[in-house]
Amino acid sequence: MNVRDAEEVTGLLLERGYRLTDSEKTADVVLFNTCSVREHAEDKVWSLLGAMRNLKAKNPSLVVGVMGCMAKAQKGKIFQRAPHVDFISGPSQLYEVPELIEAVYKNRQPAESQGNCEKVGRLQPIAAIQQKRRAEFKTVSYHSGPVSAFVTIMEGCDKVCSYCIIPYTRGPEVSRPPQQILEEVKRLADQGYKEVTLLGQNVNSYGKRFAPQTSFADLLAQVNAVPGIERIRFTTSHPWDAVEELFDAMKDLEHVCEHLHLPVQSGSDRVLERMRRGYAADEYVRKLELLRQKVPGVAVTTDIIVGFPGETEADFEATVRLMERCRFDSAFMFSYSPRPYAASTRWPDDIPQEVKDRRLQTILRLQERITREEGEKALNQTVEVLVEEADRLSARQGMGRSRTNRKVYFEADGLKAGDLVRVHVESIRGHSFIGWALPR
Ligand code: 5AD
Ligand code: SF4
Repeated sequence: MNVRDAEEVTGLLLERGYRLTDSEKTADVVLFNTCSVREHAEDKVWSLLGAMRNLKAKNPSLVVGVMGCMAKAQKGKIFQRAPHVDFISGPSQLYEVPELIEAVYKNRQPAESQGNCEKVGRLQPIAAIQQKRRAEFKTVSYHSGPVSAFVTIMEGCDKVCSYCIIPYTRGPEVSRPPQQILEEVKRLADQGYKEVTLLGQNVNSYGKRFAPQTSFADLLAQVNAVPGIERIRFTTSHPWDAVEELFDAMKDLEHVCEHLHLPVQSGSDRVLERMRRGYAADEYVRKLELLRQKVPGVAVTTDIIVGFPGETEADFEATVRLMERCRFDSAFMFSYSPRPYAASTRWPDDIPQEVKDRRLQTILRLQERITREEGEKALNQTVEVLVEEADRLSARQGMGRSRTNRKVYFEADGLKAGDLVRVHVESIRGHSFIGWALPR
């Protein structure tokens, strides 16, 4: 989602004549698109913003903007800790960023016209943070890759997971009209794109406020019918809304890839309840069994948090057991950090850092083994690959992804980005497959 947000702002600026630079050192405008979901993500931005201070000292006309969730969550602190920042804008002000940059330039004019460069950048900072939710979706044509494109289908989240800042930073759920999504997908297909990834915080609750309702499965069926689109992916799904209708769509629609990212967060019912996830571990496992029955070979990936307030050793072991039962293809694993505005912040962050670290290391190692073992099932088999890069390191090395979302590196001649090929898997490296492309 953040990648697509950055693409949309880039696209709007390119339309106005801005150009991308290779380095911030030669830029007139530096924008930070930020994430607040975990403390670590914010820490990185604070340190990058610190580095901007020197750059701005050398180039006082530089415009520095902070956009995205952190701009909203830390709005008070940003101008305080980083006074060289010129403007901030929250996730729902994406389309206003070009105006904000113009406003900074206008705001500076008096200083510039007096030739007083030192003052440039020290005028009134601009903040465009509002509580409003994203009311409209524009169709911005800029996409950073030539084969696979992200398409936003909804924004915000109506769930109430107690650890999560997103409902606060991105606001309540709002779905993009299906007609607009389809027009965008058709245009992408006309431009030669072969794969779309439909994006939203919880795509499975797509369209619930439309009358008549358009479910996410309906939308998948409509996208599946767009000529030229070979592959459809989507993220993220909340287990509560991942229903049989979705699994049937994955089974029946030929272009929908056999991959589901279904964050479980914990294997302990007690923790899940305090996380306010709305399901028990067994219900999650049963959903997975149903999915696997309907869509053989499907890869399921997940997100897991360790060290949630009050997580006992027994709770953690329940997570380990769930991972062993579910055998995820891969997982993003995090150590809990309290986030501003999240309900869990009211509870003491009582799991010592070394316990969090140990638990995280344990599941990282466990998942590494499961990822390898699951990958080994593809050894000496062929998988369908959509070529993303045809000449990676040499003219003969290509890179793409399997339908199950494994990266695949392969030897091949005469292929181009956008080709669909079958690759014989010879070995596994980390999460990736290595092999060679079968002649077509
Ligand atoms: N601490 C740690 N991890 C978190 N996530 C969300 N909020 C927090 C938090 N406060 C993780 C969840 C979510 C993923 C995007 O980030 O696992 O699925
Ligand atoms: Fe956050 Fe839960 Fe919404 Fe995901 S579903 S964005 S974790 S509140």
